[in-house]
Amino acid sequence: MQKTEDHILVIFGASGDLTRRKLIPALAELLKLKMLPDRFAVLGIGRSKYDDGSYRVMISKHLGDRSGILPLLHYHSMDPEDGDAYSGLADRLKRLSKELQIAPNYIFYLATPPLLYGSIPRLLFAAGLTKEGEDRWRRIIIEKPFGADYLSASGLNRTLLSTLSEQQVYRIDHYLGKETVQNVLVTRFSNGIFEPLWNRNFIHHVEITASESLGVGSRGGYYDHSGALRDMLQNHLLQLVGLVAMEPPTVISSDAIRNEVLKVFQSLRPITGDQVSKQVIRGQYMASHVRGEAMEGYRSEKGVPEGSRTETFVAMKLFIDNWRWGGVPFYLRTGKRLPTRVTEIVVHFNSSPHSLFGQQEGGTGKGNALVIRIQPDEGILLKFGMKVQGAGFKVQEANMDFHYKDLTDSYIPEAYQRLLLDCMQGDSTLYARGDAVEAAWRFVDPILKAWQENHDIPLHGYPCGTWGPEIADQMIEGEDHTWRYPCKNLADDGLYCEL
Ligand code: BG6
Repeated sequence: MQKTEDHILVIFGASGDLTRRKLIPALAELLKLKMLPDRFAVLGIGRSKYDDGSYRVMISKHLGDRSGILPLLHYHSMDPEDGDAYSGLADRLKRLSKELQIAPNYIFYLATPPLLYGSIPRLLFAAGLTKEGEDRWRRIIIEKPFGADYLSASGLNRTLLSTLSEQQVYRIDHYLGKETVQNVLVTRFSNGIFEPLWNRNFIHHVEITASESLGVGSRGGYYDHSGALRDMLQNHLLQLVGLVAMEPPTVISSDAIRNEVLKVFQSLRPITGDQVSKQVIRGQYMASHVRGEAMEGYRSEKGVPEGSRTETFVAMKLFIDNWRWGGVPFYLRTGKRLPTRVTEIVVHFNSSPHSLFGQQEGGTGKGNALVIRIQPDEGILLKFGMKVQGAGFKVQEANMDFHYKDLTDSYIPEAYQRLLLDCMQGDSTLYARGDAVEAAWRFVDPILKAWQENHDIPLHGYPCGTWGPEIADQMIEGEDHTWRYPCKNLADDGLYCEL
């Protein structure tokens, strides 16, 4: 375990939802696990008029029994858009460092509206707060969304990198903080049996699903300007594609791994013009009954305009034009108000070259599949054909499965826990690099543009509790396959979920 140096974590947006729900609980957990440095403090920043005491009281309501972190929390009230306020912040940090004898190392966490991602670092720089020295380091964590398209993302990168070095910038993609996402690398590169098969000669297609049963809830205002393509696919799903498809890195280091992910993004075959309507399906959830409960349609959600054409579901077929993956389709889908919450990667291998046991004998006719379950019921499952006991050679599909929960020590840390700790230790491997974020936007941009400009590209309605528009099934079934359905539609049926 690497040593974490003393520092102060400064959180902009300290009274916001993300801080209360994710960041402070993650810090509380790190404290419990004795992973925080001996000398450490959090300085919350916001416009609300708290002092240290009242801030701790507000936060304590969200912490349950993890109140050990409270004495480490401090608060500084200021308007983050007011340049003059930053000298006050610098003074406060100096005083805090002196009082608590903490080395002047600072992490600035931007848990604010994205509008401030450019201006806060600029104002911190102007106040001298991002300047590193032999006895001090300075880092900035930026929440998603990192831009809304290629232009805004590259503009933001330019702004950040005009005052900071890439090593100081940590761009959050919380999927990379998930233990099971990191396990994709371990599964691939620490087992001799998978890697020789991990290419176009043996893999038929790859499927990645990230489905959610919840709707947009109270985030309608934000979501309506985003949609599933920007909110989930451009970042989380493409990062999963990156890890599944990358070449083995030369070493396990931040740059070696992120160089390989970048190459995958650079090899994505652009989806443009006519191909958009064939390779990308968009949908929006409509009112329905899910197990007897009435569910509102997207357009009736708070903050969503009546005639909104924002997609809450997207399915896509993409190709990676390189030697390893030439011709192998990757099918991606994500959506809200689907039957269940599940994220998984399914690698479908080619079926055997000759069907020795034939369909008549009950051969499954299917290739093997490796399911990497990211969440929930984290684990791995291999599907293979097995002889049915008794006469003849009837084959049935069987599962060989591993569930993390079956391990005696099956503690799975929260993504934010891991990501915060990595930044504290100066390891950016699990953060998105600027060039990769731009490459991902470069791929997504023509799709956004086609949707915006070509009103003939349909937005399909789908009832809450179903697996999205039926046409998304045809996109994959049309090629003699089906998506894997880890549980049935709920709009009309009971629930079963399997790994
Ligand atoms: C966020 C999206 O990045 O990821 C949300 O903005 C989405 O809309 C969430 O619900 C999903 O994350 P998880 O960890 O619950 O799969």
